Amino acid sequence: MKITVVGAGAVGASCAEYIAIKDFASEVVLLDIKEGFAEGKAMDLMQTASLNNFDTKITGTTNDYSKTANSSICVVTSGIPRKPGMTREELIGINAGIVKTVTSNLIKYSPDTILIIVSNPMDSMTYLVHKTTDLPKNKIIGMGGALDSARFKYRLAEALNAPISDIDGMVIGGHSDVGMVPLISNATRNSINISEFVSKERLEKVKQETKVGGATLTKLLGTSAWYAPGAAVSGLVQAIACDQKKMFPCSVLLEGEYGLDDLSIGVPVILGKNGIEEIVKIELSEADMKHLHESAEGVKKTNNLLAL
Ligand code: 2OP
Repeated sequence: MKITVVGAGAVGASCAEYIAIKDFASEVVLLDIKEGFAEGKAMDLMQTASLNNFDTKITGTTNDYSKTANSSICVVTSGIPRKPGMTREELIGINAGIVKTVTSNLIKYSPDTILIIVSNPMDSMTYLVHKTTDLPKNKIIGMGGALDSARFKYRLAEALNAPISDIDGMVIGGHSDVGMVPLISNATRNSINISEFVSKERLEKVKQETKVGGATLTKLLGTSAWYAPGAAVSGLVQAIACDQKKMFPCSVLLEGEYGLDDLSIGVPVILGKNGIEEIVKIELSEADMKHLHESAEGVKKTNNLLAL
């Protein structure tokens, strides 16, 4: 199976590396506009093949979309990352134009591809792709919730001083510092509700730490994070490529589900060979449903900045 990753920056290259190491794809094409950059990253990654025991072939190209032809899945990480103190929403002016051009070029050579959008503000970029391409809605997936849920589990494990493999939890809603909805009431440690192990006050702290997880790292790193975003994307790609029917929170176009319409926002979905196989309707507490709707208002406000 052929996968394309557009953007050979930190997130795109990490994504390509994790896909290669998992070794389920025959080829990963890394594309960037910067002369030689994708070729260099691909060559460096290929020189880890014998060390990391993978046979996936990684190739790089400078802006030649013909090299991406017939990709089953295309990941879009291109655009500028945020700087410390910036919100993801502030990137819309530059990134909207980039995402529109990139997705149009990808679809030209891979008309049946499944797109995974990572570029920020991710929910609005995903919505933009729905509005500017003819791809069916099950083939347009925004990656945010899988990353936010990983940060949520990290913070829960920290609060409980427990191994992360004991912890389960999901974040839905907008991939934004204020709009995320960590589902505290559904979080568990080995199937036991997390509230059995930690105080309400500490859980509130976990919730806040999760929501600003990206901003916390941007402050420390001087730019957006890349390992966890890259790993999160590779999990979605694998679920689709291997038809795993796995559940992830992803940004998908809602048309009445959860009482929301005409926006893309994070809800639980099943991913398989068709992309979004099913939007899963879970029971939410009144408070979580209210937070999801408030989050949707914020996403729609950002969508209104798109010149659609
Ligand atoms: C993050 O939260 C880049 O939005 C991504 O790290």
